[in-house]
Amino acid sequence: MKRFPSLFQPGRIGSLQLKNRLIMPAMGTQLADAEGRVTDRLVSYYRTRAAGGAAMVTPQFAAVSRDSALPYTMALCDDGHVPDWSRVADAVHEAGAAFCIQLMHIGMLLLYSEVVPEEFSILVPSMMPWLKETRNPYHELSSSDIERYMEDFGQAARRARQAGADAIELHACHGCLISSFMSPVTNRRTDQYGGSVENRARFARMVLERIRQEVGREYPLWVRVNASDDVEGGVTLDEAAEQARILEAAGADAISVSGGLEYWSTLSIPCYPYPKGPMVSMAERIKKAVQVPVIAAGKIDAELAEEVIAGGRADFVAMGRPLLADPELPEKIHRGPVEDVRRCIYCNNCLKTDPEAGPGSCSVNPYLYREARYPPPPAKAPKRVMVVGGGLGGMQAALFLAQRGHRVSLYEKKAQLGGQWNVACATPGKEGYAAFTQYLKRFLDRYSVNITLNTEVTRGLVAEVRPDAVVVATGAVPVWLRVPGGTGGSVVQGHDVIEGKVQAEGKVIVVGGRFIGMEVAIWLAEQGREVSLVTRAGLGEDGIKLEKLSFKTLARRLLDLRVPLYLNSTVMEITDKAVIFSMGGDIHTLPADTVILAVGMKSENKLAQELEGVAAELYSVGDCVRPRDAAEVAYQAARVAAQI
Ligand SMILES: Cc1cc2nc3c(=O)[nH]c(=O)nc-3n(C[C@H](O)[C@H](O)[C@H](O)COP(=O)(O)OP(=O)(O)OC[C@H]3O[C@@H](n4cnc5c(N)ncnc54)[C@H](O)[C@@H]3O)c2cc1C
Ligand SMILES: Cc1cc2nc3c(=O)[nH]c(=O)nc-3n(C[C@H](O)[C@H](O)[C@H](O)COP(=O)(O)O)c2cc1C
Ligand code: SF4
Repeated sequence: MKRFPSLFQPGRIGSLQLKNRLIMPAMGTQLADAEGRVTDRLVSYYRTRAAGGAAMVTPQFAAVSRDSALPYTMALCDDGHVPDWSRVADAVHEAGAAFCIQLMHIGMLLLYSEVVPEEFSILVPSMMPWLKETRNPYHELSSSDIERYMEDFGQAARRARQAGADAIELHACHGCLISSFMSPVTNRRTDQYGGSVENRARFARMVLERIRQEVGREYPLWVRVNASDDVEGGVTLDEAAEQARILEAAGADAISVSGGLEYWSTLSIPCYPYPKGPMVSMAERIKKAVQVPVIAAGKIDAELAEEVIAGGRADFVAMGRPLLADPELPEKIHRGPVEDVRRCIYCNNCLKTDPEAGPGSCSVNPYLYREARYPPPPAKAPKRVMVVGGGLGGMQAALFLAQRGHRVSLYEKKAQLGGQWNVACATPGKEGYAAFTQYLKRFLDRYSVNITLNTEVTRGLVAEVRPDAVVVATGAVPVWLRVPGGTGGSVVQGHDVIEGKVQAEGKVIVVGGRFIGMEVAIWLAEQGREVSLVTRAGLGEDGIKLEKLSFKTLARRLLDLRVPLYLNSTVMEITDKAVIFSMGGDIHTLPADTVILAVGMKSENKLAQELEGVAAELYSVGDCVRPRDAAEVAYQAARVAAQI
């Protein structure tokens, strides 16, 4: 039986023949060095994606001008950058995929970037009062500036071709320089570049024509646009269709459809609360407006991808995060079984970057950005390893150890594997997270990990079993508030509400303004419940920084639902009928029948302490070391498993 027959049909964009319809879109990585030069890590990251079976790989955007070239991201603003890109092109070609370079000037997207050199100006089509509040100076483009940047695009295109790119994608979406010209929210110019749809698309059209002069009529070249800016007064679908027609007439061989001005909208990289494929219908609409192929993107999984192509809703699908989560996805779905795919859960942990610590990681794939370390070598001397705790940390450590050839026994005190992740999966909007637990269970079985449920591991049990090594992954438990009434009858844990173990009665106050508190408040408000949120800092500000897009998605939903937010408010006492808190030096009392806590987790590390001196080799993994997110848990589990 042919799997995903439509997705694996060959396709064509202009003169470019592609082996199937599945494309890896551009995704920033921070894997280049501080000067923007290609690193070995970057090369193996792309080689791995190409080897996994995608028809074409598009690396992160290439900055066309010096004033757009950020540290740790690749640039193509100098002839000296060509050999760097050739290295990537060669690796992708050798692994069997076509290679496309996305050209961009960052423009207003600088507002969204974490690492911005102080001397950089934000290039804007027109001045807006709120720009004065930004951290960098801004610069409104004159007509001669526009000519200069057009030339930069032309030269970068010449270099892309020289470097061995099979195609060029012009980045004109998400709020970058070109996109900011196309949008009526950010472009208030009154000259030939502002006003009508045609005028706002003029810069994009001129850049496209300039690139054509450089690369010739036959060279595959297309544009990535916003089908909707997803903000009040922004580009609408009808306008986008008109813009797409203008770009097609100017020589675009395809239209790649995305959406959202990233400084306000979260649509460009839709995270878990979004439904599947939120931009597919937009791609479908654009397809009706143009004759050239259309590329759809955004939370498209393998099944939807097949549907989209089979139904003629788009000609190609771009799958970004799914290929970060599992670079072998195309091969796996083509050859089967499809259950072997390690599915992206759209948690957006991969978007967290830390300029100090380097690129982030993936919740389901600890080898993301560390491809050269995969697979870890087989164990020199297979050992009997006891893994304690069947949450994400324990399951992954057990799997990676078994894959290396160790004999692994996994113990869990509850009746099922999953730990806290089961609570996460029970949260409305996070149902898709269960795909990861299913994947892990499937592979634990495949690698013959011996699983013992309903068994609490004690010092005595370890002494009895006498394993060669013990990995403790006992996780974390929710914290209670240490205030009078903090464990009273009306106070419950968010976890228990999510799992349906307790019901929230009457008027509800959620205490805690990070993800779990926000999610619980949203869920209750969506049911029409009277709910307020109290947090001792700003929303999302209490503790380590939250991932921006998921945070914005939830914050926007809270505001849309008009959930009253009591920020910078410290709870002082909880009575049977109210929460008493201080805000701005004043004391307030808010009536509450149920108080739901989401105030953090505490590591469960007692066993690890007790095992000192009992276990021959002892390691700790996951939240029992320090409460953290799933990506950190996965990364640490892989690191520990590689050491044993
Ligand atoms: C509601 C909720 C939502 C979340 N959402 C996200 C999210 O969106 N993104 C994200 O990255 N992270 C999220 N997290 C955090 C993430 O789930 C945790 O970081 C991760 O699951 C921790 O895994 P762990 O294995 O270290 O610990 P745990 O999941 O706590 O697992 C520990 C396991 O050990 C078992 N155990 C303890 N002691 C013993 C013993 N002595 N013997 C045998 N078994 C024992 C426990 O029963 C438990 O099953 C969320 C957490 C919650 C609760
Ligand atoms: C880490 C990351 C970086 C991204 N950087 C870019 C980029 O440089 N250019 C671009 O056009 N889109 C960028 N995107 C958007 C993706 O190309 C893609 O459209 C988006 O992730 C939605 O597809 P997905 O749901 O399959 O991930 C980025 C996405 C991610 C996750
Ligand atoms: S971190 Fe989350 S969103 Fe990013 S690729 Fe991995 S599973 Fe997908």
